[in-house]
Amino acid sequence: MTENHETIDALQWEKRTFVPSEAFKKNSLVVGTHLYDEANVDYESFWARQASELVAWQKPWDTVCEWELPFSKWFVGGQLNVSYNCLDRHVLAGKGDKVAIHFEGEPGDTRAVTYAQLLDEVQKFANVLKGLGVQKGDRVNIYLPMIVEAAVAMLACARIGAAHSVVFGGFSSQALADRINDAEAKVLITADGGYRRGEVFPLKPQADEAVENTSTITSVVVVQRGNNPVEMKAGRDHWYHELMATADADCPAEPMDSEQLLFLLYTSGTTGKPKGIMHTTGGYLTHVTYTHKYVFDLNPEKDIYWCTADVGWITGHSYIVYGPLSNGATQVMYEGAPNFPGNDRMWQIIEKYKVTIFYTAPTAIRTFMKWGVEEPAKHDLSSLRLLGSVGEPINPEAWMWYHENIGGGNCPIVDTWWQTETGGIMISPLPGATTTKPGSATFPLPGIGAELLDDEGKHVEHGGGYLTLTHPWPGMLRGIWKDPERFKEAYWSRFEGSYFAGDGAKLDDDGYLWLLGRVDDVMNVSGHRISTTEVESALVSHPSVAEAAVVGANDATTGQAIIAYVTLVGGMEVDEQVLRNHVAGEIGAIAKPKTIYFTPELPKTRSGKIMRRLLRDVAEGRNLGDTTTLADASVVNELQKRASEAPSED
Ligand code: WT7
Repeated sequence: MTENHETIDALQWEKRTFVPSEAFKKNSLVVGTHLYDEANVDYESFWARQASELVAWQKPWDTVCEWELPFSKWFVGGQLNVSYNCLDRHVLAGKGDKVAIHFEGEPGDTRAVTYAQLLDEVQKFANVLKGLGVQKGDRVNIYLPMIVEAAVAMLACARIGAAHSVVFGGFSSQALADRINDAEAKVLITADGGYRRGEVFPLKPQADEAVENTSTITSVVVVQRGNNPVEMKAGRDHWYHELMATADADCPAEPMDSEQLLFLLYTSGTTGKPKGIMHTTGGYLTHVTYTHKYVFDLNPEKDIYWCTADVGWITGHSYIVYGPLSNGATQVMYEGAPNFPGNDRMWQIIEKYKVTIFYTAPTAIRTFMKWGVEEPAKHDLSSLRLLGSVGEPINPEAWMWYHENIGGGNCPIVDTWWQTETGGIMISPLPGATTTKPGSATFPLPGIGAELLDDEGKHVEHGGGYLTLTHPWPGMLRGIWKDPERFKEAYWSRFEGSYFAGDGAKLDDDGYLWLLGRVDDVMNVSGHRISTTEVESALVSHPSVAEAAVVGANDATTGQAIIAYVTLVGGMEVDEQVLRNHVAGEIGAIAKPKTIYFTPELPKTRSGKIMRRLLRDVAEGRNLGDTTTLADASVVNELQKRASEAPSED
């Protein structure tokens, strides 16, 4: 594989630029530099203006930002309700009959949910939660497929001040149990099952198994979706539709403090234990509403927006639920796989709903490339006017393919860099104002400060460095749940006074930022963050495994692939597939190693440290650099030989 250096090489050869067209600029919200100019003068006042223009407050704030590094508070003293902002205010403005969500089920069933209907369902479900004893400040776990009820559950929590913790439906029961335990959640909302590639994947049995290993869940609410047989535990489990049938229709939106915890979302760091990232109310809502409006150049009366993420990830939280609904947008929500029933499902959906804004991930784009241009060519995609990308660096080749074959050569592309921790988009073009370059996320948005630093923490003007954020922003994480020390250590210890969450980047001659991926022990597989340590712990928890080292190797489709090197306990044997499934059981199918190499020894330094750099070199078929610190060089030679003989999966 040679394409791994493409992003870096791109800096030397990527000279193509794309200026926003006059046609696009004509109806665009921002065409000049005025937002940047305003924010550069005083970012706090800039954000204050966004907060008062874009968000409805029940009580105005006293202080825009309280900043005691590394803890920030925004719009302190202000009160608002997120679900009011996402629902009631649109209905009160006469937009109750506007479709909020065009739901497209994988089997082809559809549901158009208006703002009035969504408000109705959210109020009822908020009352259901109250009836189950959920109070302001409690945590509620959500483990659902991509169905409307996921948004309802999140908004119902927000309405009553309970924090949700959504766990992606692809995670294992063990991963769910860990997250429930850490959050000490009272209620779990799940479904019997959901659809994926023409089949029903059961969720309730996993949820049952998880709840067995927890002590805080008192009630489980089950949405009927897959119609697969499930066991309902009397007294604990309730069908969603039965509770809703008798629920009270009125649940006024209570004012919440701006810093009220809105949700926890767990993400991987460099150690094995996932971090419960904390996001609060007023700042987060301001950030996602602002970015969703300006980055996607949203016209809520005309646009049909579609983000293909799952609600289980931050992209789903910020750019399916909170951003679009707060802006009163109409969006498409799709439940299933991109290749069911055929490889053209995405394009069929765009044609069907006349989608104008499409937001997806590079790994998906590279998969579409593999499936061929004939798939999008089967459909009329002329409704599209703007494309977005998120999750990992987009290589210039994929950018150009997306631009030409999906955008018909005339849609701007917004490559949006951000993280679970940042809450919302941080670095991205503004489509009517920014000249783009294929593969570059361009510049920090107005109101955001970013800077590259070198190893010594010195400012980098040109070339490679570590991406840091220089001042607080409204959507920033407020900490790690129950672990303020880890919050400081993980993000604020590498460079004094700056936020650093693990990405490398380069600045070109024109000051454009090119994201280069993680520089820490976190892998990015199909846009999902997985820690090497987490997979190693999962492997070592199998009785046959003595030691394991995991690295991310560049992969043409998924960005990175998980490669594991495993040493077995003396005398034991185990099949590669058994170990892969074991990891899936511990974490989830997304964390399955693509390849496992069995080795009698891992390459270590004389002091006993595993040399991951070497393992990465081996996995990527590179010539090994300096091996002089290696205790036993023969180990690596043997691994290299095996890697070159290993059959490739694709
Ligand atoms: C990591 C954050 C942001 C929502 C999805 C992932 C990588 C994200 C880009 C981009 C290059 C990107 C970074 C970041 N990343 N977007 N446009 N260009 N890299 O959220 O799971 O918190 O992962 O995803 O490495 O640190 P996440």
